[in-house]
Amino acid sequence: MEIPFHKPYITDDEVGQVLDTVRSGWLTMGPKTFLFERGFSQYTGAPHSVAVSSGTAALHLALRAIGLKPGDEVIVPTMTFTATAEVVCYFDALPVLADIESDTGNVDASAIEKLITPRTRAVIPVHYGGQPCDMDAILDIARRKNIYVIEDAAHCPPASYRGKPVGTIGDMTCFSFYATKPLCAGEGGMVTTGNEEWAERIRMLRLHGISRDAWKRYATGGSWYYEVTEAGYKYNLTDIQAALGISQLRKLDAMREMRKCIAERYTEALSGTETLTPLALRPERSSSHHLYVLGIDPEAHDIDRAGFIEELGRRGIGTSVHFIPLHRHPFYRSTFGYESSDFPAAERLYERIISLPIYPGLSARETDYVIESIKDVSSKHSK
Ligand SMILES: Cc1ncc(COP(=O)(O)O)c(C=O)c1O
Repeated sequence: MEIPFHKPYITDDEVGQVLDTVRSGWLTMGPKTFLFERGFSQYTGAPHSVAVSSGTAALHLALRAIGLKPGDEVIVPTMTFTATAEVVCYFDALPVLADIESDTGNVDASAIEKLITPRTRAVIPVHYGGQPCDMDAILDIARRKNIYVIEDAAHCPPASYRGKPVGTIGDMTCFSFYATKPLCAGEGGMVTTGNEEWAERIRMLRLHGISRDAWKRYATGGSWYYEVTEAGYKYNLTDIQAALGISQLRKLDAMREMRKCIAERYTEALSGTETLTPLALRPERSSSHHLYVLGIDPEAHDIDRAGFIEELGRRGIGTSVHFIPLHRHPFYRSTFGYESSDFPAAERLYERIISLPIYPGLSARETDYVIESIKDVSSKHSK
């Protein structure tokens, strides 16, 4: 059996939406993008949703909106993709890495508090694998210390914390619609916020910093006149991507349900042993189940995690690792002097985790094959 790590869930609906858009003659940002933004706000309950070209662009513009300056500090978990921290470097500001909770992979709120200095402007909690971070604790620290909370929700939606949808919790929330994400548009991103001024600023910055209706300057009825108010970016979404997004938004709950079933099947079969540990899920949070991260005890096996991945690959199963913590990468080490000993929880989690296939369309038979294969590799290589 061949089971890739990921397959997008694309149906005739997406194909129809994209064809409609292509036939409409409006290919770049336009009516479909705005429809997608409205649908996203309706879905999440966020007052403002601004579509951009990627999750990275969303994070970058969120930091522009708060006016990040050179020398400022932004706290970021070490267990994330480089995009979360790289955007801080765009400003010659300092990404201050925080350790995580080793059972959920989410940032440790008490670690955030210890890292705050007079130069700290914001924290970017990452909802690892789709499970929201401890937002009560993080918001409490942020309000007390007067710093912004910009959530990296690249692994959501849909997810919620104490019944509140991700997208309506912090000051701004940044989503990614990259090909492997729970809502996929090939590429794309969204910033949600309750702050109208920030939303307006991000709308301008995503299209070169030119005045509001510049997107329709080539349309009949659109004006040729525009004004550049600041140096912005080419970070707009296209209507072709928005067409995919609109269609995916409609089945977001159904897709989550399918991933949840797979996650529960994995957990039921793989937990309860000392050697295999799924990530912990907190009861007051609802996860998008974007990733299924399994911890494999390296002490209990005669092969390491890389060996485990190889063995699964030999059985036709694609897996991945989320993530190689940032403090291990040459750039963050050499530029900021981070060391592994500063992040004991992330180190402990990192050395044992693999991400298993989890996507709508992965059948029960395929899920069982993954389970059997893991058990087989584990028992053949147990010490
Ligand atoms: C946690 C996290 N943040 C940000 C991003 C960046 O998103 P994008 O690829 O849409 O720029 C990713 C993408 O993999 C991610 O996993």
